[in-house]
Amino acid sequence: MTKVAIVYHSGYGHTAVLADKIAEGVRDAGQTPVLLKIENAAQDFASIIEQITAADAVVFGAPTYMGDVSGVFKVFADATAGVFFTGAWKDKLAAGFTNSHSFAGDKGHALESLTILAAQHGMNWVNLGLAPPGVTAAERGPDTLNRVGSFIGLAAQSDNASPEITPPAGDRETARLFGVRIAEAAVRWTRGAQPALSEAA
Ligand SMILES: Cc1cc2nc3c(=O)[nH]c(=O)nc-3n(C[C@H](O)[C@H](O)[C@H](O)COP(=O)(O)O)c2cc1C
Repeated sequence: MTKVAIVYHSGYGHTAVLADKIAEGVRDAGQTPVLLKIENAAQDFASIIEQITAADAVVFGAPTYMGDVSGVFKVFADATAGVFFTGAWKDKLAAGFTNSHSFAGDKGHALESLTILAAQHGMNWVNLGLAPPGVTAAERGPDTLNRVGSFIGLAAQSDNASPEITPPAGDRETARLFGVRIAEAAVRWTRGAQPALSEAA
């Protein structure tokens, strides 16, 4: 089965809700999610890095703090520099998600940081693939899919309330569909990975 690693940080549990829903989507697509939570900046990242290396696709996730990925996630990203020199993640599929309090909140910048991390490792980016909602502002509600209208990755919005109730249902379902999309893309991608093609590169 195709393995999709979901590596994420979540300071207060809201981004973790999305990680769990992405994992559900991967399972719904008949594939295997590997949830890898970054706990803190001081931890040893070796096991997470090994499990990413063993996966077919990786979804990076972080809350947006001060208009970028959280500092803890950035420490993890810097710790992957050793992998950069080996090229071990080159040609894996990658995707990303974030969550923040404001509708905009500069979370597009956090997603951009995740795309750059993937690009530096030579990974191939899978975008959200879900059109922004074609509804009026008045019609847009907690059940609306891709509620904040993101393209490059999953962007969710959480109020200042418990992760049990926010982000809302539409963001959670968007995350599940994103998991399905990444898993299906990974199946197609690994099916096409013939050794002869790699040797020709
Ligand atoms: C240090 C810090 C910085 C934040 N910066 C932003 C920000 O730039 N934009 C925004 O919309 N929300 C910002 N927030 C709100 C968080 O993105 C929001 O609470 C989010 O749901 C936290 O996710 P988590 O529970 O996974 O940590 C910030 C929160 C913290 C703690």
